[in-house]
Amino acid sequence: MAEREEKGKYDEMMMKKGSDGGIAEVNPTPKKGVTSKVVDYIEKLIVKFMYDSSRPHQYLAGNFAPVADETPPVTDLPVVGHLPDCLNGEFVRVGPNPKFAPVAGYHWFDGDGMVHGMRIKNGKATYVSRYVRTSKLKQEEYYGGAKFMKIGDLKGLFGLLMVNMQMLRAKLKILDVSYGTGTGNTALVYHHGKLLALSEADKPYVLKVLEDGDLQTLGMLDYDKRLSHSFTAHPKVDPFTGEMFTFGYSHTPPYITYRVISKDGFMHDPVPITISDPIMMHDFAITENYAIFMDLPLYFRPKEMVKDNKLIFTFDKTKKSRFGVLPRYAKNELQIRWFELPNCFIFHNANAWEEEDEVVLVTCRLENLDLDMVSGTVKEHLENFGNELYEMRFNMKTGLASQKKLSAPSVDFPRINECYTGRYSFSSGP
Ligand SMILES: [Fe+2]
Repeated sequence: MAEREEKGKYDEMMMKKGSDGGIAEVNPTPKKGVTSKVVDYIEKLIVKFMYDSSRPHQYLAGNFAPVADETPPVTDLPVVGHLPDCLNGEFVRVGPNPKFAPVAGYHWFDGDGMVHGMRIKNGKATYVSRYVRTSKLKQEEYYGGAKFMKIGDLKGLFGLLMVNMQMLRAKLKILDVSYGTGTGNTALVYHHGKLLALSEADKPYVLKVLEDGDLQTLGMLDYDKRLSHSFTAHPKVDPFTGEMFTFGYSHTPPYITYRVISKDGFMHDPVPITISDPIMMHDFAITENYAIFMDLPLYFRPKEMVKDNKLIFTFDKTKKSRFGVLPRYAKNELQIRWFELPNCFIFHNANAWEEEDEVVLVTCRLENLDLDMVSGTVKEHLENFGNELYEMRFNMKTGLASQKKLSAPSVDFPRINECYTGRYSFSSGP
């Protein structure tokens, strides 16, 4: 009932003022001064005595190297062949591109989000690249250097100290973390007339594509304050209903929160999903009637990070993988069905659909996840880094699950024709 009232209020507000649908301006207020200099100095000492600066930053080199600057719209690009006049739009992609050199470690996932756009109109092409203007980026520009904690630092006692540096900077208001600490670097999605730049530890940033192809960050989307938790970088838009389905994960209960956003941009009430431990859940899937959650054993374990000099996320090879299938409009988790399959980790799903009593998930399955490798340690052999395309089946009648391999390694970052999201489709990947 309360939700219906909220929705009513929302519709009324939208009608009255042509609402922006909950875009909040991002104006952090960090404070420079003696205190910030003292904290910088302490950090320098910690890095000097505890961090091996001879370690190469392979995620800042070669193919991973960032570009130095943004590129304002460059018009009339050379065109080989012919661009049909009817093509009118902009192709956009986002990826990590750190603006400032790290003070110590750096992980692929740490970089500031940079969006590259290719505007095509009237048979002509324009290229542009712009940072997602996050709260983090604005504050590091204010200081002229890297100030926020990095995933690349979160290992061992050094990792704990770097976490504490961030907490100290927040406590002393040197950094303003009230707008989150995300980078908007992971993926883009288009929903309810808005282009969103996403990173899974934060709320979405809204981008505007200008007529000349330029890209402008409008602010952070909090769905008129209805969103108070993180938002996956891989939400799913149902091509038939226009709704968007999403979730966030957290280090404190409820570890998973599921949300449905209607076609007109209204975010429905949160549905907490109960799992036993805090984990990393990077992706999920939808079908016509269900949402599929993946409780995989990559645990958030800060104590083990310090005790065993491990990364803050620890993969447990002894645990089963669990898949939760929930009717997608459920108001709570009472009807969720959990299925077990052998141990694995999954970053990305290709798609899911229903076949009679079965829910089918096509996904990129990893055995023996080695996050040290993902964290940037160079290894000579890649034998343990094979993602394989798998089909998993969850029988809603019998409660049984099965899986079969569809391909040899390596398949990840799969894309499908999004007109088939949640419906039967084939997938492809590099
Ligand atoms: Fe991803």
